[in-house]
Amino acid sequence: MSSAATIEKPSNRRVTTLAMLNPNLQAAIRRIPAEKDATTDPIAATRPNAIFTSRDHFDLEQAKIFRRYPVPVTLSALLSEPGMVVADDGYGLPLIIARGRDGEVRAFINACQHKGSKLLEDCEVHKQGRLTCPYHAWTYGLDGKLVGVARADMFDGLEKDKRGLKALPTREWGGVIYVQLDGGEADWSQLSDQIADDFESLGIPTAHVYGRKSFELKANWKVVLEPFLEGYHVQRLHAASIGDLFVDAPNIVDTFGANVRQLSGRVGYSPAMLDEDPSGNVHKLVTHAYTAFPNCVVVTSQYYTSVMLLKPRDVDRTTVHYFMLTPEPATTPKAEEVFKRSYELIVQVFGGEDFRAAEISQEGLNAGVPETTVYCGLEENIVRYYDALEKLLTANR
Ligand code: FES
Ligand SMILES: [Fe+2]
Repeated sequence: MSSAATIEKPSNRRVTTLAMLNPNLQAAIRRIPAEKDATTDPIAATRPNAIFTSRDHFDLEQAKIFRRYPVPVTLSALLSEPGMVVADDGYGLPLIIARGRDGEVRAFINACQHKGSKLLEDCEVHKQGRLTCPYHAWTYGLDGKLVGVARADMFDGLEKDKRGLKALPTREWGGVIYVQLDGGEADWSQLSDQIADDFESLGIPTAHVYGRKSFELKANWKVVLEPFLEGYHVQRLHAASIGDLFVDAPNIVDTFGANVRQLSGRVGYSPAMLDEDPSGNVHKLVTHAYTAFPNCVVVTSQYYTSVMLLKPRDVDRTTVHYFMLTPEPATTPKAEEVFKRSYELIVQVFGGEDFRAAEISQEGLNAGVPETTVYCGLEENIVRYYDALEKLLTANR
């Protein structure tokens, strides 16, 4: 495996400078202490095994979070132009997400209003003006309207305007496409405007999707999420890959309801470095790691950004949709080489290290051990995040 430390700058890279970030994010970055001044306090916190293994708990999360609020389904960047369409089954519900001719993104149940056939059978991105059912060729516009019925003369009294695709409330939020899966009225209250502003500053809505990959993991979605909320494992689990690029320093953490922003300086960081080169790449100095409600993880690297959607399938099953975003497609062989090596590295680190850790943890948890998981000061964000989720789980509606 190549080392991240040896990946050189691609020559065509558009650089993100500190000044390009929104004021709130810039101010937060300026609060990151020098590595030598960083301190972390110990904490005492535990969680019961059941939150990772109990069907009742899983069902409660589904009812109170994943079907109660809009959830992230895919990225705006994947549907960068009008006429782009993709299917997504990540939440166990067949969906179509389409960017119409008017530029609006809409989500529909991927089911024909004749007899339910899936309209799109794969999860590739397609560019097309219409959706045609493979079964009897009913045709829909990307706005969901039924526009064509084969042998329409054979239907007595068919009301075409009542047979449009089943639409679900949908919104783009900082480059992430959120959908209300139960089809009810969407409650956007859990999504953070600040997080959306940050994602815009980081170029997520307009990025290029260099690569994407799905992982089917044998682990609860929170077991998959935990390593992205803590730095404790980084020098240890990732000792052979990226561990030496990070220190156990505390993050500057801001929470916005059930949304977490963690900012950390690279090894040897001091605040003065921010002003040494105003035209320099801020991602060389600072790593941004976000958990956006409830299961969207964003982690920045020097030349690309990783986005992961952790989609719960069952108590101990999660589908992860991983996206590697770059500011633009590679325009030189050198840039292509850097992106390719970065993609291989990150898929190996997340897939082979973080996701593997999640699966082997789940095996023990499924055996009932430990009875409670225990968290240290370097893992405090997990506890804060669970506190926020638990408020939603115990809410009356
Ligand atoms: S099921 Fe789609 S046209 Fe018949
Ligand atoms: Fe990790």
